[in-house]
Amino acid sequence: MAGPAMDIRQPVKSNMKNGKVAVFLSGRGSNFAAIVRASRAEGANFSVRLAISDRKDAAGLKKAARFGIPAFHVDPKRFPGKDAYEREICAMLDREGIDLVCLAGYMRLIGPVLLEKYPGRILNIHPSLLPCFPGLDAQAQALRHGVKVSGCTVHFVDSGTDTGAIIAQRPVPVRPGDDEQTLKRRILRQEHRLYPRVISMFFSGGLQINGRTVIIMEK
Ligand code: GRF
Repeated sequence: MAGPAMDIRQPVKSNMKNGKVAVFLSGRGSNFAAIVRASRAEGANFSVRLAISDRKDAAGLKKAARFGIPAFHVDPKRFPGKDAYEREICAMLDREGIDLVCLAGYMRLIGPVLLEKYPGRILNIHPSLLPCFPGLDAQAQALRHGVKVSGCTVHFVDSGTDTGAIIAQRPVPVRPGDDEQTLKRRILRQEHRLYPRVISMFFSGGLQINGRTVIIMEK
């Protein structure tokens, strides 16, 4: 279940006043919007410079346009394989001088090209308390299992599905009578708080990864 340990003993970034963030998405983009709003609040230490979607119809792309953030559909089908696709994305990230990549409902596994280019600098949010219920339909999995508490997790990205080192989690109660939609909504509210907070921590003091343990070095 657990992904390979990452060996990054130095804080990946620290004390940046204006970290540059790219968000990858495939759908609605509500986490993206929450991240952008947080980035525009007074005293924020990061800004969102780029949104990338693998899907042309992703509602998140329209949200990006409304925020005035450059947003691109990069169609994986245009490339001979994942490496070429990710090399194109790397070039886009380079042009913007991106420091941190945040996956927010991005429905693809990250491959070696991006992982090597951004070691310890790719985050994801998942709507469960990992390592429980990785992959698709985490809320439905939680309901089927009958857990009383679920939640959300922000973690570093590795080559697995939701397997990277855990940075922060928020618990959310599962209430009697919950269905997938009510539980999704309750968890999503916490996602929108947690993700921007972790991004801010990333830039304010750094996050040190020691094996699977993440030490928050917030100042
Ligand atoms: C969120 O529940 C997130 O945890 C998961 O995909 C969903 C994306 O929602 N990875 P949105 O596109 O941010 O609204």
